[in-house]
Amino acid sequence: MSKKKYSTSAISLIDEEVCMADEEFIVSKTDLRGYITYANRTFMEMALLSEDQLLNVNHNIIRHPDMPKGVFKLVWMAIKKEKEFFGYVKNLRSDGRYYWVFANITPEYDESGKLSGYLSVRRKPPVSAIEAIEPIYQQMLQIEKSAISDKVAEDKSIEFLQQQLESLKVEYQDLVISLFNGK
Ligand SMILES: Cc1cc2nc3c(=O)[nH]c(=O)nc-3n(C[C@H](O)[C@H](O)[C@H](O)COP(=O)(O)O)c2cc1C
Repeated sequence: MSKKKYSTSAISLIDEEVCMADEEFIVSKTDLRGYITYANRTFMEMALLSEDQLLNVNHNIIRHPDMPKGVFKLVWMAIKKEKEFFGYVKNLRSDGRYYWVFANITPEYDESGKLSGYLSVRRKPPVSAIEAIEPIYQQMLQIEKSAISDKVAEDKSIEFLQQQLESLKVEYQDLVISLFNGK
C-alpha cells in the first residue's frame, strides 16, 4: 500500500515565527540528491512532520517560498565540490508558520572514502543575523521574480549578492559566520 504523500502546496502560509531553543540542534542527513535519510527529533518537532513524512523525500519538503533560489544554488555549488556550507535558512512548518536556522552542511563519505551524502546541523541564529540577512534575501527574491527563467533568476540573484559582498569587502561564508558571532 502506498503512503499518502505530504505536499507543501496545500499549506496556507502564516507570517509567524517559531524560534528554536538555544540548546537545540536540528540534524538531518541526505543522500547525494538531497533526499532525507535521517531526521532527529528536534527536526520533526520544528517542521511538525513525522519521520515517515520526512524519510526518503527531498529536503525541499520544508522549503519556504521566501527563500531565494540563489541561496540553494550556492548550497549545491559548495557541497557538490565537497566543501562545507554555512548559511541562514527560513524553513516552513506544516502548520504554515516558519523557523529560521543557522545551517551547516558537510559531506559524508562511505568506508571506501567515496562521497555518500550530506549531513546538516542547524542551530538557533541570532536575531541580529536574521535582521541583516532577511533584506538581502528579499531583494534576491524580487530579482528572481522578475527574471524570465529559473536559470536567469538564480544567476541574477547571485550576481546581486556578490555585488553586496564586494561593497562590504567580504566573502559570503565569512559574512555568514561573523553574523553568527555577532560581529
Ligand atoms: C543536507 C542538506 C540539508 C538541506 N536542508 C535544507 C533545509 O533545511 N531547508 C531547505 O529549504 N532546503 C534544504 N536543503 C536544500 C534542498 O535540497 C533544496 O535544494 C532546496 O530546498 C530548494 O529546493 P527546490 O530547488 O526544489 O526549490 C538541504 C540540502 C541538503 C543536501
